[in-house]
Amino acid sequence: MTFNPLKEKGMPLDKQLRNWHQIVAKPYKKEKVDCYTRTRQILMNGIEIEGWGFKHQFNRFVPNVDSEDKETISRIGRIENQQQITCNWLCPADQSVLETTLGYEQVAVDLTAWLAQNEPDEYVTETFNFGLLEDFDHLYRYSQFAYMTEGIKPCAIVQDQTDVIVGRPTQHHHNCNGLRLRHPYDKEKTSPQTKVNILTVLSGEQQTHNFYAEHGFMYGDHVLRETYAEIKDVEEEHVTMYESLIDPTETMFEKALLHEFTEVCNYYTCLEDEADDEIKKYWEIFLEMELEHLQLAAKMFKKYEKRDPEEVIGSEIIIPCRFKSQKAYVQKILENEVGKRLAPNGEYYKTMKEIPEDWVSYKVQERVSEISAPSENCINLIEFYNDRDIVEADENLKNKEVTLLEEGLQKIAVAHNTVMPDKLQKMIDNHEERKKQKEMII
Ligand SMILES: [Fe+2]
Ligand SMILES: [Fe+2]
Ligand SMILES: [Fe+2]
Ligand SMILES: [Fe+2]
Repeated sequence: MTFNPLKEKGMPLDKQLRNWHQIVAKPYKKEKVDCYTRTRQILMNGIEIEGWGFKHQFNRFVPNVDSEDKETISRIGRIENQQQITCNWLCPADQSVLETTLGYEQVAVDLTAWLAQNEPDEYVTETFNFGLLEDFDHLYRYSQFAYMTEGIKPCAIVQDQTDVIVGRPTQHHHNCNGLRLRHPYDKEKTSPQTKVNILTVLSGEQQTHNFYAEHGFMYGDHVLRETYAEIKDVEEEHVTMYESLIDPTETMFEKALLHEFTEVCNYYTCLEDEADDEIKKYWEIFLEMELEHLQLAAKMFKKYEKRDPEEVIGSEIIIPCRFKSQKAYVQKILENEVGKRLAPNGEYYKTMKEIPEDWVSYKVQERVSEISAPSENCINLIEFYNDRDIVEADENLKNKEVTLLEEGLQKIAVAHNTVMPDKLQKMIDNHEERKKQKEMII
């Protein structure tokens, strides 16, 4: 049976206001929670932040809206605000900023990999794959700090569902802003799936940026603070990249419809996948609320634009966030695309050899890393703690680490403190040797 979100019964807006006890939910237990319950919680917070912020932009910038409709929009915005608290505060107080950070990057890797495989537009898929390898490397860099600062191995958070190993090195994620701009889709020809996919990943990336902005300073370690600043800046580039895929001629009423539809689709998927009964009930209630938001947005779309909402969102549900292990897919992209870089006019250099010597991003990278690249310092530092970097992957992928680094590193604009492939190989060999020594002592 098909689920048409424009026809399913939702919860009347009058019934959606909740009391403080209902709003502030009981947090999950960080030791017991399934990693994909945590990724759903992190993603839905990002979706709600975007839903809430959009309504304020709408009421600030859209003229000639009847006062009762303006009031409806502001009432829905209040509900988004309450939903956001519930989603975000499911996160327990004893989950550290670094632990939550590993969760954020796991969202980015496994969500983007799912979207890339369920995206009808090849150009958009290529963009998802490009961003994927950058967040994959962020997970690796933060995992070093989680071990050095808090004694945590990444498997405590990602639960062996996501590999942790070097990706496209973070120091090479810094680009001239213009290069991040992709070609926008054509709103008349593009499928609702593509529109929802982009808005979903964009909401996640935006919230990742905001989380690092608001929490990166909470550690005293200067190198860690600098790494948060460095990766936050990459998330800013990711927001720029993903939002540039959206057709800028979409009207604000059309965007309102797409925002509510994206919320419906994401809660629908969360509800289908959630194994935790306590948390599942929130996905269920929030889906009912979003169906009403969507139908109110559809009513306004018809009233102000005299168009049929189905032209924009179709008549079926979409699955934008099926969280599951994506190791095989990510490995394939990693091995084929680690040397890829951004070219002008929304294109890509597919191999390092194609990049011209006067590539505009070299200047940006030389400037920001002129003293050192914090994301490289963390690999230098981990040598003192563990002889080699913290890596969690199957033996086959682990054995390719030095080659992956060779293929991912540029020849130009390489920070002076970079751990080069020969140094990494020495660290790995040294670790093996010392492991034997340690076993003998024990
Ligand atoms: Fe919402
Ligand atoms: Fe990231
Ligand atoms: Fe990202
Ligand atoms: Fe909503």
